[in-house]
Amino acid sequence: MTILAISGSPSPDSRTQLVLSHVLSLLAQRGLATELLALPTLSGEALIRADTTAPSIEDALSKVARARVVIVGTPIYKAAYTGLLKAFLDLLPQDGFDGKIALPVATGGSLAHLLALDYALRPVLQALGTEAVLPSVFALDREVVRRPEGGAVFEEPLRARLSASAERIASFTERFFPVPYPTANALRDTTPTTIAA
Ligand SMILES: Cc1cc2nc3c(=O)[nH]c(=O)nc-3n(C[C@H](O)[C@H](O)[C@H](O)COP(=O)(O)O)c2cc1C
Repeated sequence: MTILAISGSPSPDSRTQLVLSHVLSLLAQRGLATELLALPTLSGEALIRADTTAPSIEDALSKVARARVVIVGTPIYKAAYTGLLKAFLDLLPQDGFDGKIALPVATGGSLAHLLALDYALRPVLQALGTEAVLPSVFALDREVVRRPEGGAVFEEPLRARLSASAERIASFTERFFPVPYPTANALRDTTPTTIAA
């Protein structure tokens, strides 16, 4: 059972990625398996051409397929999520998030676009078949203070929001995906499609 965080920021020193890494480290402390997928590491040409046979894209799509929980992070660009994230989400099959739990996360310069996550990203995650989209987390730039030696300090009340969010993921994970997680076969409906009279 993997928890995958997808970072849709094109920036090399991304605040979004720092926030995602922090949430993943809180989850790892609870013994959960975590992974980060930074979209700028994928082939740009393959993304633009929607080439799902490119090795980096194939690998990323299989990470999404394997994950039970997906944390989708993006900076707010022009009052919406980034084009980079959109390019990647467009490569997923229509049921690409089927049965998964998703957490939308954004960083932004202004509270004016706080709702962008819920009116722009949340419906897309829902349309991809997500079982449960958890309450979004929005981080203001000034709440994520980069440290010169790397990493960041998360100002309150963001720090508390991130802890609460990690707590929520852990509790949903325990409820939805108990260990050992039943195999796909165990969940398959084996009742006959036609019932004899
Ligand atoms: C092209 C561009 C557009 C942006 N548009 C918005 C916006 O509409 N609303 C907002 O609050 N912040 C906006 N910002 C600020 C970023 O969302 C913010 O700095 C964010 O933390 C950057 O995240 P990153 O470091 O992960 O790339 C924009 C930044 C850029 C570069």
